[in-house]
Amino acid sequence: MLLWVQKVYNPPMLVLGIETSCDETGVALYDSQAGLVAHLLHSQVALHARYGGVVPELASRDHVRKLPGLIKQLLAESGVGMAALDAIGYTAGPGLVGALLVGVCSAHAMAAVLKIPVVEVHHMEGHLLAPMLEPSPPAFPFVALLVSGGHTMLVWVTGLGRYEVLGETLDDAVGEAFDKTAKLLGLGYPGGPAVAAAARDGVAGRFGFPRPMTRKPGLDFSFSGLKTFTRVTYEKHAAEPNIVADIAAEFEQSAVDTLVIKCRRAMQQTGSGSLVVAGGVGANQRLRARLADEGRQSAWQVFFPRPEFCTDNGAMIAYTAWLKLQSVVGEAPVQARPRWPL
Ligand code: KG4
Ligand code: ZN
Repeated sequence: MLLWVQKVYNPPMLVLGIETSCDETGVALYDSQAGLVAHLLHSQVALHARYGGVVPELASRDHVRKLPGLIKQLLAESGVGMAALDAIGYTAGPGLVGALLVGVCSAHAMAAVLKIPVVEVHHMEGHLLAPMLEPSPPAFPFVALLVSGGHTMLVWVTGLGRYEVLGETLDDAVGEAFDKTAKLLGLGYPGGPAVAAAARDGVAGRFGFPRPMTRKPGLDFSFSGLKTFTRVTYEKHAAEPNIVADIAAEFEQSAVDTLVIKCRRAMQQTGSGSLVVAGGVGANQRLRARLADEGRQSAWQVFFPRPEFCTDNGAMIAYTAWLKLQSVVGEAPVQARPRWPL
């Protein structure tokens, strides 16, 4: 039986964060007084590239291979011994079950040996709180646009653990739409940065791409129609010069417009003065520029994590674990949660 114990851990604390939910092995050390001490990331891009997407079994095996060495390197470079750790936080979900289990088992094994608390972290909560690692962090409440390979959500955040989902995708996530478009256009994996790079040489506006679900009220998204429109348009115009770049540009513009329109609506609906943008697609320069402009015009403050903390990383997990440790802490179950609502 799971025994929940209420404890309050006061600073100072040194927390190790472990992220293994998909195709990046991330580790970080967060010090409650000094802030982020260090973080390291091993990307599996080269491993999956020839398959055009993430192969779950290869991802888990690579986490097993890389995680122990990455933790040792992190501690050595930070001049910290294993015994100095006060707690460990790890991504318990959502994500690929085999990949998650590597982080779950490693964190629990280390914590058992060191006799320190272990905290499970929701991957999207980590993304949502990542802007707090920046020098000018947002204050609660704020609207968060969470855009990754598996999620597209607008969330009204009124405090730690107080998340009201205002809208989410009914089918594909926006990052998934970027990835599928990249595959269609032969741009490879990972798709988002590849589409963005191709789009720089393209001209948008020739094909009348849709802005899905923006004419209906509400804050939900749908990106599968945009994906189909992209495919049909490409097949029809495949022989035209510069077609890959032009389609990439128009796809990107349409996806970004759709996100911006929904953000504007969420800001009006909540009356919020702050918008946080996080998750892998938050690294997209066009999205960042458009939302920054929108913020200037509408007098909202827009907060982005630095691009390396938009995509998966251990820093957001160590930081979120530390925040969670300050309130209620229980024995985290030794369990991966591939599907886990925010
Ligand atoms: O948050 P993340 O690293 O992993 C998940 O939790 O899914 O997000 C990965 C997603 C992928 O779909 C990737 O193509 C997309 O973020 N992405 C981008 C960019 N960088 C990463 N999408 C558009 N533009 C980018 N620059
Ligand atoms: Zn992520």
